[in-house]
Amino acid sequence: MTTNDFSPAGDGPEPHAPKRADFGPDFLWGCATSSYQIEGAGSADGRVESIWDRFAATPGKIRDGSSGQVACDHYHRWPEDLDIGRDLGLNAYRFSIAWPRIFDGTGKRPNEKGLDFYTRLVDGMLERGLQPWATLYHWDLPQWLQDRGGWADRGTVDAFLELADAMTRRLGDRVKHWITHNEPWCTAIIGNYEGWHAPGIQDLGTALQVAHHVLLSHGKAVPVIRANVPDAQVGISLSLHPLRPASDAARDVAAMERHDGLRYRWFLDPLYGRGYPAATLAQVGNAAPVVLPGDLEAIAAPTDFLGVNYYFPETVADDPGHGPLGTRILPARGETTAMGWPVAPQGLSELLARIAGDYRPGPLYVTENGSCYDDVVEGDGEVRDVERRRYLMRHLAALRQAVDDGVPVKGYFAWSLLDNFEWAEGYLRRFGLVHVDYATQQRRLKDSAKWYRKFLHGA
Ligand code: FCB
Repeated sequence: MTTNDFSPAGDGPEPHAPKRADFGPDFLWGCATSSYQIEGAGSADGRVESIWDRFAATPGKIRDGSSGQVACDHYHRWPEDLDIGRDLGLNAYRFSIAWPRIFDGTGKRPNEKGLDFYTRLVDGMLERGLQPWATLYHWDLPQWLQDRGGWADRGTVDAFLELADAMTRRLGDRVKHWITHNEPWCTAIIGNYEGWHAPGIQDLGTALQVAHHVLLSHGKAVPVIRANVPDAQVGISLSLHPLRPASDAARDVAAMERHDGLRYRWFLDPLYGRGYPAATLAQVGNAAPVVLPGDLEAIAAPTDFLGVNYYFPETVADDPGHGPLGTRILPARGETTAMGWPVAPQGLSELLARIAGDYRPGPLYVTENGSCYDDVVEGDGEVRDVERRRYLMRHLAALRQAVDDGVPVKGYFAWSLLDNFEWAEGYLRRFGLVHVDYATQQRRLKDSAKWYRKFLHGA
């Protein structure tokens, strides 16, 4: 198999448009968002600084020099945004909690105003028939915790447990679905090894210690959440890619295996009780994390579902000296989004089937999937994002394939409801089904949102 397997030709004929009914009446249909990317209100109501505020204020870190200080002003406009979600026909909504809103800068005193915001938001979801899916950590670590070493410091695990406790005490009567972490690989590797995300560190040992503490904080949070919310469904969301070797040559196949060890098994193996993959541990040498007795047992706490964030497949080539494991991800060939990410719907069914087969994790939810295109508001006010509409339709067809194949996938959250602050890319990249005019904060349904609405209304 080569790169070309991900080209449109490798995708087979255009699928028939899927129907909501194909997925059964209990399937969850949502959109996903995250706090720092949409809320804005950076200094409102006692919110303290996050690592992303600090990072965005550092020249050269964000491509357009922007920050999440205002973003979509969702902190004030959430009723309109939830109305949009309801009108689309969603029955679930994934959001994240801004940790810097929940405690003051000592971490000791809860901030009632921050807690109240999420109470109002969740009540707003329930009033509109949206099942709330709360993510406890989607990357906006309080800066005061980073100043103490961030996720590389074991004390951050305890701080996270206090966050999990405070949020589940406050919202547990209404929120039953809890995601501990969004994409630990990104937190660890992009933030602390590649360094193009906050906090911008470039050190493999730090990154792997971060990954360990993030996984540990997940595992230790599971019983905390269950104690406060006995009927909770608890899981974690990982960003995963199906992989291909760049060629059939043994060195590329071996490179793909090494990459898989760190990108996939490093997270899934410990979560499902297998510890860190031995080969990868040997390959990272003295960058391996400090693991204390009992940590691996804690990480493997049984969960109720696994969240899978799928965007694109990766093609891996051997490249001695490049990256931690001498591997390189090749640039995409064939159809891509404006991010340069390959469009490969069949990768979704392939990935879900692989995870289900490798780990038997119980119910799977696609907690993110979406695409970035250079949208244009036309003279008549319409945003004809034909490519995003097609991307969505084809990925839902692939999802239906997974369901038909017996993979236990139970829900889908499109990334994202709104255009938003796309991390290091600032506002240059639009992923929303709904267009946001940042000058006026006007929301406009793109054609993709209208297609999703039609799909969800069973047309
Ligand atoms: C995911 C992130 C999400 C968004 C999308 C495009 O990795 O979880 O916040 O940036 O990518």
